Amino acid sequence: MTAQPYQRIYLVGLMGSGKTALGRRLAERLGWQFIDCDHRIEERCGVSIRRIFEIEGESGFREREVRMMQELSYESMAVIATGGGAVMREENRAVLKDTGFVVYLDASVRTLLRRTANSKSRPLLNEVEDREQLLTDLLTLREPLYREVADLEFRSTHNTLSRVSERLHHQIQEQWQH
Ligand code: S3P
Repeated sequence: MTAQPYQRIYLVGLMGSGKTALGRRLAERLGWQFIDCDHRIEERCGVSIRRIFEIEGESGFREREVRMMQELSYESMAVIATGGGAVMREENRAVLKDTGFVVYLDASVRTLLRRTANSKSRPLLNEVEDREQLLTDLLTLREPLYREVADLEFRSTHNTLSRVSERLHHQIQEQWQH
């Protein structure tokens, strides 16, 4: 077996881009651990992300996110799903670029809307009437930042999770060989 050039794979992308679902499958394929940054924050605080937003506002959540991202950058053999807004902070972009291989999960607003339609746990989506407009605005704002940190851009197709994760795994391995 060849040595792995990276200890961590970070998945970035908007809410609903598949970071958690695909990340978990990718980790299984690699035999690595899977970590979801939001879940770790919830475990640490003992309350939901939604509650953190209510009590501390978005800025309080972002501080916690920065600290968790720093902590996760010491994990080994880990596929890490980041929160959709993590790239907004420069400190997080530095962690992403310096400490792992970053995959941007690119998806259309239509797909994101469909995948988040039943979501009640995402405060940013809950606060607005027009989710399509919000996702469009977030994409415009964040896409350049996702691209800035990404080593690979990946668009999932209409296929089973197993097939999509197989294709992602393959693309990562190809890139690591070059
Ligand atoms: C956020 C995305 C969420 C979570 C929080 C804020 C965002 O994570 O971190 O609600 O700013 O886009 P997911 O991308 O995993 O839904």
